[in-house]
Amino acid sequence: MSEIPSSQSTDATLSETDRTNADQPPRRRGLPLIGSTLSIARDPLGYLESASEYGDVVAYEAFGTEFALVFDPDAVESVLVSRSDQFRKGEFETNFGDLIAPGGIAFTEGEQWRRQRRLLQSSFTPDRIRSFAGKMATEAAALVDGWDDGETIVLQDALSTYTLRVLSRTLFDLKREAPRSSAPASGDLPRALEDDRAETVRRAATALDNYASPGRLALGSIVPSWVPDRAEREYEAAMADLEALVADLVAQRRSVDDGGDDLLSLLARAEYPDGSRLSPAEVRDQLVTFLFAGHETTATTLTFACWLLAGDSAVQTALERELEAVCGDREPTFTDCDALVYTEAVVREAMRLYPPVVGLYREPRRGTTLAGYRIPAGTTLQLSVYGIQRDGRWWSAPETFRPERWLTGGDDDSGRTLEPAGDRPEYAYFPFGGGPRHCLGMRFAMTELQLALATIVHHVEFDRVTETLEPSLGVTLDPGPLEVRVRLR
Ligand code: HEM
Repeated sequence: MSEIPSSQSTDATLSETDRTNADQPPRRRGLPLIGSTLSIARDPLGYLESASEYGDVVAYEAFGTEFALVFDPDAVESVLVSRSDQFRKGEFETNFGDLIAPGGIAFTEGEQWRRQRRLLQSSFTPDRIRSFAGKMATEAAALVDGWDDGETIVLQDALSTYTLRVLSRTLFDLKREAPRSSAPASGDLPRALEDDRAETVRRAATALDNYASPGRLALGSIVPSWVPDRAEREYEAAMADLEALVADLVAQRRSVDDGGDDLLSLLARAEYPDGSRLSPAEVRDQLVTFLFAGHETTATTLTFACWLLAGDSAVQTALERELEAVCGDREPTFTDCDALVYTEAVVREAMRLYPPVVGLYREPRRGTTLAGYRIPAGTTLQLSVYGIQRDGRWWSAPETFRPERWLTGGDDDSGRTLEPAGDRPEYAYFPFGGGPRHCLGMRFAMTELQLALATIVHHVEFDRVTETLEPSLGVTLDPGPLEVRVRLR
């Protein structure tokens, strides 16, 4: 297990661990009635990190729910893959889904989920990703173009604007949409209207992040509120606007089938086997789910990757060399991705140290055992991506940023040693989950991340302005307002 700083101990100590009953997982005790809720609301990431000291499966209670944190890669494989039919997402996650998008694919179960997955995965085939990649690269070039030499930027702000623009262009394709009149079917939407629509999507994404923050939800679970707070009011207003926009766009796409390949066109045209179509509310739920799943996750990964690069000139130089060898003077494109192996290694390593999705939630359909421990029905399993990906049993120098560990053999010119994956369990690394419910946008995300990073490094170098990284747990792992200075190359 990786070393846990003592300052991160919260409401319990090791001596309080209940090891009396061999088939119960060790328990981390909190306060009477509210369990560990306050500790988690105060410092969710610290709580999760320090819990790994108790064992590979650790029970605790919070938000009125019984949790079991899992730090064992083989148990993760069992839950996500080989015994996946014995587990469902469970109440903790569906309660969250009910707040933002009850019918969204990330929250549904059984036949409804299968039908949605079949329908939606046709938007994420390699051909579709290739057709989206041009927009990803164009937006990345526009992002870098807006930076001046010597300018200080807040990485997360800049990069979440970037990922939102990519999502808007590929999922909603606001630019392509023609007005209802007889105007041409593509590309001629008046700029102001396009900006207006993009602003509606941006406001919805921001309101979603503020509304669904774990700190807010945690406090809500112990201090019930009958009066909506500001975040809730803003969320409801932003969602009403988004719903109106989606209804309008769906109607337009149904009236003119111009063969558009964005996700909204697919959803607008899709038919169930009985010939019925998705209602605007169903379409809205999917789009909100994609905003939720695909926006901050990629922005956060890019933020961590850029900040890590800014502090490591050897990695920055190795990346630049690779880009020069593969692309020369031209901009990176989709066809370069296979050859940009070091760029991919940087992305993977950033996601190992700072996985945007810190833990996955599952609930056993009935009482079961896991890693030799009894897990009663109603327990919420929390599979710790963050803990496992930093565990010294599977990773050498687990806290060190070392992209080379992802390269297979050969000399990477940096003089650093390569790490054989060897006997590391497969689920020692699972930033995109695994099994039937693995991330639907994984290929989309990896292409976007590789292209954005390559384009950025092609044009600029970074120096750190913020020296210390103190991530916290937001909807995704939150890097905070990290600043870097831009040097144009
Ligand atoms: C670095 C970026 C990303 C990371 C780390 C990430 C991570 C994940 C993880 C861990 C899951 C599984 C959750 C679970 O099993 O409980 C997931 C599911 C999902 N992701 Fe991603 N994701 C990323 C980007 C994206 C993007 C860009 C999209 C779409 C454009 C997307 C769409 C989805 C969807 C729809 C699901 C639900 C799949 C299902 O339940 O069938 N993700 N993601």
